[in-house]
Amino acid sequence: MFPPARDAENFDNASLAALLRWYADMGVDIAVESSPRDRFADSAAELAKAAPDPSPAQLLRPPPPKPLAAPPAANTAAVAIADAAASARELAAGANTLDELCEVMRAFDGCALKRTASQLVFSDGTPGSRAMLVGEAPGADEDRQGKPFVGRAGHLLDRMLASIGLDRTQVYIANSVPWRPPGNRTPTPQETAVCLPFIRRQIELANPEFLVCLGAASMQTLLGVKEGITRARGVWRDFPVGDGGRTIPALPTLHPAYLLRTPSAKRGAWADLRALRNALDGHPR
Ligand code: URA
Repeated sequence: MFPPARDAENFDNASLAALLRWYADMGVDIAVESSPRDRFADSAAELAKAAPDPSPAQLLRPPPPKPLAAPPAANTAAVAIADAAASARELAAGANTLDELCEVMRAFDGCALKRTASQLVFSDGTPGSRAMLVGEAPGADEDRQGKPFVGRAGHLLDRMLASIGLDRTQVYIANSVPWRPPGNRTPTPQETAVCLPFIRRQIELANPEFLVCLGAASMQTLLGVKEGITRARGVWRDFPVGDGGRTIPALPTLHPAYLLRTPSAKRGAWADLRALRNALDGHPR
């Protein structure tokens, strides 16, 4: 990826910095090895080793029968996702405390994001708080620090909470997907599906009175709302807690990262925060 060491001296520092910035913008933010490697050449060499030139006798032999068709790759992948989601459901159901849940999630290998993330980002704030806030997935800062919403979006979230007299120790915060997707891409529907049993159980064990879904992904994952967030925000919905038919009120609102990019949308988010404050104060919705 990076210019080979012998060429690096031909680049000035500004060009190297610009190149690094370009890689980061393209989502290449993890150094897998310190020098570039042509993996196509590696596989060609492996193939040549495994299949040396045939002898004349081999060339005269009839070709071996074709193996039975393997199942289509898409099917195999779908089965693997379904298995991982089933395993997540079983592990989540077996966790009786948030600490136990955190441990089983840390040991879980069914979500590929774990392999590129630095660590599990489980929660921040205080379990048992009256309000629980759920975002989409950790970004680079969260991945480094192991806590949700500690980067720029998190600082805005702190200010939003302060505007209704709360700080992050008075709420409980988590994400629908607890491992950082590489390059901060949106988690795929498959990654989200595998992680869903974990966040559902985390909400159940944290036992908040009110749930706030930060952004479209959290709303769609937890509430199954298909509408866009700008239309759906500010409307209380029911979130089913566990399998016993109990629900708690859940409020979708705009994601702080979206508000950083679109300051004109803050008015709506502030209305949602006031709705949360009113709910906490026991005023009718
Ligand atoms: N965005 C999220 O959705 N979650 C975080 O933890 C940080 C940014």
